[in-house]
Amino acid sequence: MDTLTELADEAAGCTRCDLYARATQTVFGEGQPGAAIMLLGEQPGDQEDKQGHPFVGPAGRLLDRALDEADISRADVYVTNAVKHFKWTERGKRRIHQRPNTTEIRACGFWLDAELGAVRPRLVVLLGAVAGEAMFGSRFRVGEHRGKAEEAALGGWQGLAVTTIHPSAVLRGPDADSRDRAYAGLVSDLVVARQAAAGS
Ligand code: URA
Repeated sequence: MDTLTELADEAAGCTRCDLYARATQTVFGEGQPGAAIMLLGEQPGDQEDKQGHPFVGPAGRLLDRALDEADISRADVYVTNAVKHFKWTERGKRRIHQRPNTTEIRACGFWLDAELGAVRPRLVVLLGAVAGEAMFGSRFRVGEHRGKAEEAALGGWQGLAVTTIHPSAVLRGPDADSRDRAYAGLVSDLVVARQAAAGS
């Protein structure tokens, strides 16, 4: 069995924080072992929690479209989340996403370190503030880092990180105009990531 499959099997029984208790399952990272680019999201959403795969819901579909436009093939990257269990609160019949806290992000850092060690990507794309916190700590602000290739290190891994907004932020835009602008920004940050990962 390869290292990533072993890690995913081990993570399936993770109780490092309390989030496992209300989640359907651990949603571990997936993708190309040895990928040059790792995409790091926040945590699985409702659909990901049910299906057991990262970025397969509405935010994932938008991310796929943005990757396509930035000329990055999802088949060539490794996709994961800073936190691997869905944290939610009940609103009527719906399960509403809740931001993971610093303790939960740190607890799940164990798995992120392991994924970075196994995949050894040249570059990590940080999709939003929680991914940024997982990489750079709790003082991280998206606006201060966005759209540039920066040196980064975590656990035994060293490489580059490019920060961008979370795809859900595009979906949450108040009108079509602001959603279009946010989407264009996401695509252009992904282009920066592709070029930096290729060393250009
Ligand atoms: N949002 C995330 O951050 N990750 C997913 O896998 C889905 C939605």
